[in-house]
Amino acid sequence: MKQILIIENDETLRKIIKLNMMKNIGCDVIEMASSSEALDLMKILPELDLIICKDAIKTENAGANVANYLKKENLKTPVLVIGVKNSDYTHLYSIGANAPWKSIVELAFKIINPPSAVEAKVDTREFVPVSIHYFLNINTITGCDVYIRVKKSESEFQYVKRLHAGDTFTREGILKYQESGLREFYIPRDSFSQFVNFVTEELVKKLESKDISGSQRVTLSSDSYKITTERIQSIGIDEYTVELVDESIASMTTLLKEQNSLVMFLKSMKANDCSFAYAHTYLCCLILHKVINSFDWQSPQIKEKLTYIAYFHDISLPKNSLTEINSQQELDDSGLCTEDKNAVTNHALQSAAIVEKFSKIPTGVGAVIKEHHGNKSGVGFAENPSLALLPLSMMFIVTENFVDEFLKIEGVPKSEDLKVIFTKLQLKYTKSTYGQTLTAIQNMIQNKKK
Ligand SMILES: [Fe+2]
Ligand SMILES: [Fe+2]
Repeated sequence: MKQILIIENDETLRKIIKLNMMKNIGCDVIEMASSSEALDLMKILPELDLIICKDAIKTENAGANVANYLKKENLKTPVLVIGVKNSDYTHLYSIGANAPWKSIVELAFKIINPPSAVEAKVDTREFVPVSIHYFLNINTITGCDVYIRVKKSESEFQYVKRLHAGDTFTREGILKYQESGLREFYIPRDSFSQFVNFVTEELVKKLESKDISGSQRVTLSSDSYKITTERIQSIGIDEYTVELVDESIASMTTLLKEQNSLVMFLKSMKANDCSFAYAHTYLCCLILHKVINSFDWQSPQIKEKLTYIAYFHDISLPKNSLTEINSQQELDDSGLCTEDKNAVTNHALQSAAIVEKFSKIPTGVGAVIKEHHGNKSGVGFAENPSLALLPLSMMFIVTENFVDEFLKIEGVPKSEDLKVIFTKLQLKYTKSTYGQTLTAIQNMIQNKKK
């Protein structure tokens, strides 16, 4: 039987409400005349279904006292305040101070018996969305069933089981869901970490494997990059994240060693629908590895450092699409919400902070990442190239700028497209390592074209 507490000092009104609640709802009603008395009871009886409370009783802010106590105790008991709501407790309802008792009873009834209480509870509390790409590199799922969410009405959803724990499926099967417009599956909330760890382990196993083709490796690396960034956002850096990063970096290094790595990557990129974020990361890495050969101070250690810089430079961005913004103007014109705009503005600083949390990363990686949009503070985008930055930062900035322009080319890049890019970049990057990097990229690309 439902249990309701009424806190009201007007005894007549209290009795009427109590009687009608008992008659119409069939519940057990406890009466109290003050919130201090009620708080004592709530400490020993926290499982109430509803509290009806007058907003102010004599000198007490009764409604706020009750609501703030529930909030502090992390309880979700609904409170119906007679009068004015005076707390930001989420489960708070109110009715006018002079509302007739009938209206109070009717509203109380609706609060404790919402139209589809059972489904609503399941919907919001027990399922979490998991992007469909998590399923692309696994063939089975353990530990939980997988659902899709179907709209029942304006405000209600229902979950329909699509994959059972232990079922096997193929990448093609999952891609069909994606083609039909599905973006997310749903899994029980308490299975989320276990599920993401399972996917991570499977990815690590695949990345370790020596017998996958170059193009399969591009797809796998792109998927892993996406999952690494999301893992860092949702779960944080734990042993699985570290392992995934290690294997992703190793896999990227393997790709760099392929013959004709640029051509091979570009072909695979188009064929496999590799994400922009990964293409941008990988191409920066590949070009940096070639460009550095023109500098006297190159070494295997510097190359390793460049790989980490390329991999992590945008890692704090919560959405892969945000990596496409590379200037203040683009950010201003983006139409993004404030939260995303802030993430973009601070991403160099925050990515550098994330890198510092990994123990085995070469020193100095964070410093370059912090400066990768031209400001020493790691905040915002610099308008003009600054000579106060580290040489590797200058090298990275020119390379990234080239890669972004390169990725904007539609279809197969032609010599004219590249000429346009170089003319544009030559106006901007003339001095110091900026100029040297641009010359090195130009030599590298033009030699390839011959
Ligand atoms: Fe970037
Ligand atoms: Fe960036």
